Amino acid sequence: MRIFSGIQPTGAIHIGNYAGAIQNWVRMQGEGECLYSIVDYHALTIPYETAEMPRRVQEAALDLLACGIDPEKSRLFVQSQVPEHTELTWVLSCCASIGELNRMTQFKEKSERVDFINAGLFTYPILMAADILLYKADTVPVGEDQLQHLEVTRVFARRFNSQFGETFPEPQPRMTTAPRIMALNDPTRKMSKSLEGSAIMLSDSDEVILRHVKRAVTDVGAKTDEMSPGVKNLFTLLKVFSPAETVAHFQEQYEAGNLRYKELKETLGQDMVDTLAPIRQRREELAARPSQICEILHESARQVRQLARETMAEVRQKLGLTACS
Ligand code: AMP
Ligand code: TRP
Repeated sequence: MRIFSGIQPTGAIHIGNYAGAIQNWVRMQGEGECLYSIVDYHALTIPYETAEMPRRVQEAALDLLACGIDPEKSRLFVQSQVPEHTELTWVLSCCASIGELNRMTQFKEKSERVDFINAGLFTYPILMAADILLYKADTVPVGEDQLQHLEVTRVFARRFNSQFGETFPEPQPRMTTAPRIMALNDPTRKMSKSLEGSAIMLSDSDEVILRHVKRAVTDVGAKTDEMSPGVKNLFTLLKVFSPAETVAHFQEQYEAGNLRYKELKETLGQDMVDTLAPIRQRREELAARPSQICEILHESARQVRQLARETMAEVRQKLGLTACS
């Protein structure tokens, strides 16, 4: 099994990323060959400060290593250090239809937020498909918001295969039990870096974490029979950060109608702190050795590039780009 996933270097990683994706990146390290990428080319689709980019990439690498990505077991590399990603993107863009790209909800959402809609924002899913197919990955650990992108990746792969001969496997998603963590301050919206006050960052202090959980929205408006989105979200987080007995305990209380939010929040907050504090500490230790991080990224890029070159040689062959070669 070959596993591929990517994350954008858009600042600190939050618990939505952790619970929805990174936890599986770490767990899957025993299951197959894992390739994990910090996708800086994807990050060019939204305006950014160039001077900030190197630091953002370093931060993402630090976060991932601190969460348990083991450079002995996985390849952790920077997308722009393997130019074949962009080469395959061009090829796949000729297997993608404008209609398919137009249907992407993430494109619709993101394009509403900017004045200048660059074409990269539109072709973003093709670059993502290239990331995966370049390594012929069959399993992709992601959160729910990426399922649509993975679906079109399979469409592009199928189209390429039927036109030019069997080349790419159709990659399948692998989700955690928490594929969609909602914002703590507005549980009707997804937790995200761009939504102010919505996220707990892996680098947040104990006090900040506890404060966020304490203030999490639970019920708004009239009580209904169904669990409110805010309480549901707290239970999802409880399943990520607390032992099964704790989840069962609160579940029983909820069913008996005597769940006390204060107690639930205190327990969840503490369990979250207990999980995140060691990650934060590892992160600090790693941050003291920046050259070691660069070495890991370089060595991984060197290794995955061999695979990327092999795929591109096969792709060129299949496309008939072989004159005088
Ligand atoms: P991004 O930060 O958008 O590059 O996302 C990195 C990974 O985290 C992707 O696999 C996303 O699906 C996942 N992810 C992002 N936000 C959330 C969330 N609120 N809940 C669960 N997973 C998420
Ligand atoms: N688009 C993904 C996100 O925003 C990141 C990503 C880029 C990715 N390439 C990938 C995820 C390939 C999985 C596989 O979260």
